[in-house]
Amino acid sequence: MTQPLHALVADDEEAIREMLAAVLTKQGLHVTCVADGKAAVDLYPTLRPAVVLMDIRMPVMTGLEALSEIRKIDRSASIILMTAYAAVETAVQAIKDGAFDYIIKPFDISELLLLVDRVLQMRQMQDDIAVLHRKLSESYRYDRLLTNSPKMMELCQTIAKVARSNATVLVTGESGTGKELVATAIHNNSARAAGPLVKVNCAAVPEGLLESEFFGHEKGAFTGAATRRQGRFEQACQGTLFLDEIGDISPSLQVKLLRVLQEREFERVGGNEVLRSDVRVIVATNRNLEELVRQGTFRQDLYFRLNVVTLRTIPLRERPEDIRLLAEHFLQRFAAENQMDAVGFDNRALDCLLRHSWPGNVRELSNAVERAVIMSTGRVIFPEDLPEQVTRTAEEPGEEVAEPAATLPPGEGQTLRERISQYEAQVIAECLQRNGGNRMRTAQDLGISRRSLLYKLQEYAIA
Ligand SMILES: Nc1ncnc2c1ncn2[C@@H]1O[C@H](COP(=O)(O)OP(=O)(O)OP(=O)(O)O)[C@@H](O)[C@H]1O
Ligand SMILES: [Mg+2]
Repeated sequence: MTQPLHALVADDEEAIREMLAAVLTKQGLHVTCVADGKAAVDLYPTLRPAVVLMDIRMPVMTGLEALSEIRKIDRSASIILMTAYAAVETAVQAIKDGAFDYIIKPFDISELLLLVDRVLQMRQMQDDIAVLHRKLSESYRYDRLLTNSPKMMELCQTIAKVARSNATVLVTGESGTGKELVATAIHNNSARAAGPLVKVNCAAVPEGLLESEFFGHEKGAFTGAATRRQGRFEQACQGTLFLDEIGDISPSLQVKLLRVLQEREFERVGGNEVLRSDVRVIVATNRNLEELVRQGTFRQDLYFRLNVVTLRTIPLRERPEDIRLLAEHFLQRFAAENQMDAVGFDNRALDCLLRHSWPGNVRELSNAVERAVIMSTGRVIFPEDLPEQVTRTAEEPGEEVAEPAATLPPGEGQTLRERISQYEAQVIAECLQRNGGNRMRTAQDLGISRRSLLYKLQEYAIA
């Protein structure tokens, strides 16, 4: 349910207070009236009115002083000043000091209501924008699989299908391609989503402790086992267990893993009790398991058991259409994390990103953008901000060299300020064109006021 909106009226004339209270109440506002500026300031914090109507000439504290005091409490306060014709100049000053608008006494009720309506509309818009901002930052916080690539979309469809089953899944693919993200997506889209998703990085746990990590141990099972400990299989009960880097586990643990996958049974280290856990297992590796089987380091029967459903993530170089999408996603995310307003990549920086081969895949891209955000001095990422290995690829001869964007020449001899301005002009011109020359919409899209858009159009001589 929405809260009723409050209006605060301050005027030393009782007749005006009564009249305003009557018309504003009719508009559905909760109206509170006071007779001087000081009382308005005192009431403001508890009332938090959506709109304040204040006379300028009042005893104790004038409307102008009250305006400045209220703005100290709340910079976004919407205050309409009322004044007799003689004080128009003061009212103009008041607008400069942050009043929403002023109205000259005696005024038409309809004129006043129009102003109040504009205030309320503006507040609604600000609220909507705040909600959108929140949604946007949430969508950046939760890791989602983003893609524009048809191959990856196929993978996403398979994820959706696989998620519905309880089958063991093997996720393979190069390092940094999103295997863990795939495992998370399967869990989140499965009937087990409300249960735990437990992750074990098999390569990070010392070999001697991995069995206990998987299955737990009884008190005194080995030196250092001071208490009984639950294993990850137990912890993941009714959820999903993600075993990362599965290619690295020892032959003896491979046997035990095969047993738990086939019989659904296991024992804690040092214990005899046979335990069962309702777990869905997803494993991942960036190693070639078939090759490991051929070499004899990975059991063939376990490989067959794991290989029922295999999902292969795709190297970034095989889906260049994702580079820009992901780069921009990471830019927004890291800019937000560093409290910076990032606008985008300079065309040459984008060119470097598109031409790099990304041996470290999405993780390498994410790291490169994070570094660039930290190194950048403005709102635009330039090639200089990117790691050297990324810009180096772009300089390598041989490959077809894409022209630097026509609208943005290499910028030799230009200062940083000049280049940023040039980029800004380009962004504004493009946006204006997209909006068919509509300045209001352009200003909205760019998140600036119409006034500053007009100023910039003039500055950059954009028609
Ligand atoms: N399609 C994608 N959309 C958004 N973020 C992604 C995408 N793919 C990967 N990432 C991000 O890239 C990083 C690496 O992904 P992830 O850890 O899943 O890779 P991995 O294949 O498990 O790598 P490794 O083999 O090195 O463990 C993570 O921060 C992940 O959130
Ligand atoms: Mg991983």
